[in-house]
Amino acid sequence: MNIPDSLKQTLDNQQQLHLIQWWDDLDETQQASLIDQLESIEWEELKYLLESVETDNAEDQAARAQKAVPPETLVGLDDPVWSDQNRSDLHERGETLLKHGKVGAIVVAGGQGSRLGFEHAKGLYPIGPISGATLFDFLCGQIAALTKRYQVDIPYYIMTSDATHDEVTRAFQEHNWFGLSPNQVMFFKQGHMPAVHAETGKLLLAEKHSLALSPDGHGGMIAALDREGVLEDMEARGLEVVYYHQVDNPCVKICDPEFLGLHRQTDSEMSTKVVRKVAPEEKMGLLVDIDGKTQIIEYSDFPSDMAEQTTDDDQLRFWAGNTACHAFSLDFLKSLAESSTALPFHKAHKKVPHLDESGTPQSPESPNAFKFEKFIFDALPNADVALVVETSREREFNPVKNAEGSDSPATCQAALQSIWRSWLSAAGIDVDSDVTVEIQPSFAIDEAGVVEQKDQISEPVDGELLLK
Ligand code: UD1
Repeated sequence: MNIPDSLKQTLDNQQQLHLIQWWDDLDETQQASLIDQLESIEWEELKYLLESVETDNAEDQAARAQKAVPPETLVGLDDPVWSDQNRSDLHERGETLLKHGKVGAIVVAGGQGSRLGFEHAKGLYPIGPISGATLFDFLCGQIAALTKRYQVDIPYYIMTSDATHDEVTRAFQEHNWFGLSPNQVMFFKQGHMPAVHAETGKLLLAEKHSLALSPDGHGGMIAALDREGVLEDMEARGLEVVYYHQVDNPCVKICDPEFLGLHRQTDSEMSTKVVRKVAPEEKMGLLVDIDGKTQIIEYSDFPSDMAEQTTDDDQLRFWAGNTACHAFSLDFLKSLAESSTALPFHKAHKKVPHLDESGTPQSPESPNAFKFEKFIFDALPNADVALVVETSREREFNPVKNAEGSDSPATCQAALQSIWRSWLSAAGIDVDSDVTVEIQPSFAIDEAGVVEQKDQISEPVDGELLLK
């Protein structure tokens, strides 16, 4: 097989001819796969990024962060908007959207559970304390329950990556689509970006036939929605609002009607839920205003002296942590997809294993290369109207990120126990403290669901109460 002339020319122009130096050693399949990878690269965009390799992104971010002030328009938990009457109006507004099939949901599931010591797609992590049901079981179970409640197919768009696509799609087939109907599930794969040598600007090879690639960040979702026909599908279904969330939080209230109602009532283009950070060093993005625009600054880019600032009543001045639950209007998503520069790339200096000039594998001990990622929350300042809403941390934000300590399976399961016990207690059922409880979404997704079915709840067996 020959390398297409145009590709060779491009590599020459970009001073990246080293990428094909072992061409003659490759078999045909390897040659084809290398061509695919090289042709998937947006060379012009990359050129721009390579030229900015010299500029220090971290310093730019820090300078920007210095101008941050707490967000002016934030709807807090005690805000008058949550009066009983208004709350019920908002709930109804959100439910109307749902019943009329105007709402879909996206989960970003491109990540693996490496930080958990789980070398698989994170959505397959077993979190059910009795059943071992996975994160996908709990998330898809909610969509199935909402589909039943509102008698309308709520489409669930699942973003995968090179690393997770095959495993995730296979798991859906093997687990009967986790209770959903196949025509309400659509997978779409995010893109990738090559790693670039920090000093030379050369792209790195992982193998003679393969670039060192990494996912392009959850912000890669915008291009992928367009490329993979998801926006078209959303339009064909008549969607108007899309609820976005991460795969790591089984407590997320997917398509929460009150949140959707408020998003709609305020004509927001992008809305986001925040919770109160528990400590200045907590690894959460922060909602702030900069030059009058609401936006999120990632924890790693926020100066620690600012993160530690407190108010007169000894509260954190910057407290609004990003839960990564957003509502997007479909028109706003479409406008983002029309502009390839709507979301900037963030550059991270990382250790990237690669082949050296002699073709010998190297595992660097210190950062040697730049990786590039887009963050979906950078869409926020593009919105003419952006809404920030505080929500209950105990009820809605208990992600599984680390093997131990904060945001671990243990903290998440403890939170689930207390949520499920509160639902049982609202139904007048008190369970001994040594009993393990698990309520799956097929049984109930909220307190009202448990209260409604309280007559079907039997006694715990062998210290376990599993409702499904
Ligand atoms: C993220 C947010 C942080 C927020 C916190 C809340 C970023 C950069 N930071 O931190 O502001 O407070 O969640 O839990 O997002 N993913 C992909 N493709 C990618 C990268 C990530 O699908 O290329 C998905 C992962 O599967 C996961 C989610 O995005 O569902 C978050 O990614 P992760 O890297 O775990 O972010 P955090 O550091 O936890």
